[in-house]
This record gives sequence, C-alpha cells and structure tokens, in this order.
Amino acid sequence: MAAKKPLNIGLVGYGFMGRTHSNGYKRVNDFFDLEYRPVLKAVCGRSAANAQTFADKWGYESIETDWRKLIDRKDIDAIDICTPNNTHAEIAIAAAAAGKMILCEKPLSMDLVEGQTMVEAIEKAGVPNTVWYNYRRVPAVTLAKQLIDEGRLGRVFHYRANFLQDWTISSELPQGGAGLWRLDAAAAGSGVTGDLLAHCIDTALWLNGGISNVSAMTETFIKERKHSETGKVEPVSIDDACAFLCRFENGSLGLFESTRYARGHKALYTFEINGEKASIKWDLHDLHRLEYFDHGDESKLRGWRSIHVTDSDHPYMKHWWVPGLQIGYEHTFVHQVADFLGGLAAGKPTSPTFREALATQAVCDAVLDSAEVGQWQTVVPV
Ligand SMILES: NC(=O)c1ccc[n+]([C@@H]2O[C@H](COP(=O)([O-])OP(=O)(O)OC[C@H]3O[C@@H](n4cnc5c(N)ncnc54)[C@H](O)[C@@H]3O)[C@@H](O)[C@H]2O)c1
Repeated sequence: MAAKKPLNIGLVGYGFMGRTHSNGYKRVNDFFDLEYRPVLKAVCGRSAANAQTFADKWGYESIETDWRKLIDRKDIDAIDICTPNNTHAEIAIAAAAAGKMILCEKPLSMDLVEGQTMVEAIEKAGVPNTVWYNYRRVPAVTLAKQLIDEGRLGRVFHYRANFLQDWTISSELPQGGAGLWRLDAAAAGSGVTGDLLAHCIDTALWLNGGISNVSAMTETFIKERKHSETGKVEPVSIDDACAFLCRFENGSLGLFESTRYARGHKALYTFEINGEKASIKWDLHDLHRLEYFDHGDESKLRGWRSIHVTDSDHPYMKHWWVPGLQIGYEHTFVHQVADFLGGLAAGKPTSPTFREALATQAVCDAVLDSAEVGQWQTVVPV
C-alpha cells in the first residue's frame, strides 16, 4: 500500500476532550484503512509545563502556549479546538483565515449570532470542517439512523430525549476556572442547554429532521457560588436544568429534559422514537444496544428486541473485533477521525459540518429565549 498522506494536527486544549481526540488520532490507522494518517504535531495550552507533560504522555512532537502561534505554523494542517465554549469562535475564525482545516468541539458557539459569524468565515475560507457531536458515531445510534432512513418506523409521532447528571448539587461547588468553567455563563454560554441538550438536539435533528418551534422552562437551583478564580461569591447565571416541548417539521412532537440535579444519574443520555410501524430506544449507559419494536412481527412473538450492535454488518463494527465483542465511548471519537480522513480523501464534507451544527445552535437559542419569555418560540431557520 502507498505511504499514507500525513495530516499534521495542532490540538488546542489538553483536558477531557484533548485526551479523547488524541486517542482517536493515535488509534485510527490501526483499525481503518485510510489514505491519510494524523500526525500529532503540536499541542497548545496556556501552561508550558502542563502542555509538555501532555505532549510527552501522548506523543505530540512540540508545544505552543499561544493558539495564535499554533495557527501561524506552516507545518500545521488542521486545528482541533478542545477549549471552553467562549474560545471556539475566535480560534476557528483565525484558523479559517489561515487556511487551516478545523475540527471544533461542541457546542459550536456561545449563541446563534456568534455561530453565524463562524460559519461565514469557514465557508468563505472553504476549509474542511467538522463539529464533534460524537454520539452520532455510536454504532447503535448510527444503526438507528439507518433503520429510520430505510423507512422502518413509518410516520414518526414522538421523539423523547433526556440527558441527566447529578454533579452540581452541592452549593459548595465553586464556579469558573479549570473543570468548572461549565458553571460560568461567561465561559460556557449556557448551562445544560448548550452542554448536554445540544447533544440531544444534534442527534434529534439528524434522526428526525428539523425542529420548528419550542416551549421551554429552565431553573437555576443554586443562585450564588464562589468563583474559583476571583474567590468572590457571584450570581450563577447558567441553567441548571432545562425541559422543553417542541414540534418537528415532520409533524412529530418532541420532549427533551436535561439537568445536573438528577441524583444517581451520571451521564444518562437516552432517546426514544415512536413511529407508526416501529419504535426505537437507546441508552448511553448500555450504548452498544439498540432496543427495537417492530409492529410487523408475528403477533405471538412481538416484543421489544435488544439488538447487540456488534456484528460486522453493523455500522463501524467490521473495523473492530469479532461479533459479540463490544466497543465503548472512546471509539466514537476514533470513528469521527476516520470519517473526517475518509471525507478528505473523497473530497466530501464530514457531518456535522459547522453549518449543520449551527442548526443545533438555533434550537438552543430558541429554547433559552422561550424559557426567558415564557412563550413558544420559532426556531430561526439556518
Ligand atoms: N463531544 C463531547 O461529548 C464533549 C464532552 C466534553 C466536553 N466537550 C466540549 O469540549 C470543549 C472542552 O471541554 P473539556 O471537557 O475538554 O474541558 P476541560 O476543562 O477538560 O479542558 C479545557 C482545556 O482548554 C484549555 N484552555 C482554556 N482556555 C485556553 C486558551 N485560551 N488557550 C489554550 N488552551 C485553553 C484548558 O487549559 C484545558 O486544557 C468544550 O467546548 C466542551 O463543551 C464535548
């Protein structure tokens, strides 16, 4: 086989997502036959010592402490943005102007208006881009997409999704700074809406099409927290919990809920879709299974079947082990890298692109607006 084309990666941010993406770049060519090979060229973080420790551990060739310098480097092909939400736009727009490919973490932006400026910049530059809504690439979720596209559900009536956590219940937890920037609206944009519901919305738009309008409520249970950087007690302005109803363009009804106050739940992302002919449900805690009910089955055998999505004819699975042996969370990032590299070779975009991720931003904005004014809001078409 011909030597693979190198794709030099410049990673910005070495936290949780910096690790999942690095794992994806390192493993992808061991399992997928691709024209391109990611090269871990440089990692960028504000602390040189921490960046060096990360580089040594994961095998990055060099470090930078300013993302602008990383973008200026001629030996970097792609910028991977793994930093808090309030930095995505500035880094992505500068990377696009420098002609770099961009892989950006979700949510795309702080809000819809900022997201629109990013999409304009990226489309003007014509650079390959993708946003890491990785749950699309859980094989069971990709299988759900295939079953829906094959028409097996028929007309869809209901879409229900939850993303439940319990890690912010203590009023002693500070907001802001490393690890806790998610509680600080200035860094995160919003609370569970942009952090967790954005995943549910992305999957829903992909599986069930556009959302036309929404009616939402949000709550901030702990009203003040100490800021971990300033030490001051400050008001909390993120949404701790959010629930919304919506109408999809295909006529189905949606019900979404997310909270960080569901004691006992760590990352319970679930969805269920009820169609005229069949229903589907999925649960992140059992991510390799897809539950499927087919009304067309012989009545005496009819019931929910639990498909263990590990066969070689299931999405992505022929690249891994043998039927029956399952894979996990980290593989979704390997799959996204594989799809991005495959797209580059084929000259095709990798979904979700910035423009596709903007649609999720439009729904998030409508949800937050609706909660604020207490009325249904129309989702701005993008
Ligand atoms: N796809 C997913 O499932 C998923 C999961 C978690 C987080 N995310 C997203 O990934 C992004 C990062 O989240 P995380 O959980 O990795 O956060 P994290 O706090 O673990 O890591 C953030 C990193 O960014 C660095 N950083 C902050 N400002 C910087 C700057 N100006 N220049 C360089 N580095 C800077 C921090 O030092 C840290 O290394 C967020 O946008 C988040 O919403 C996505």
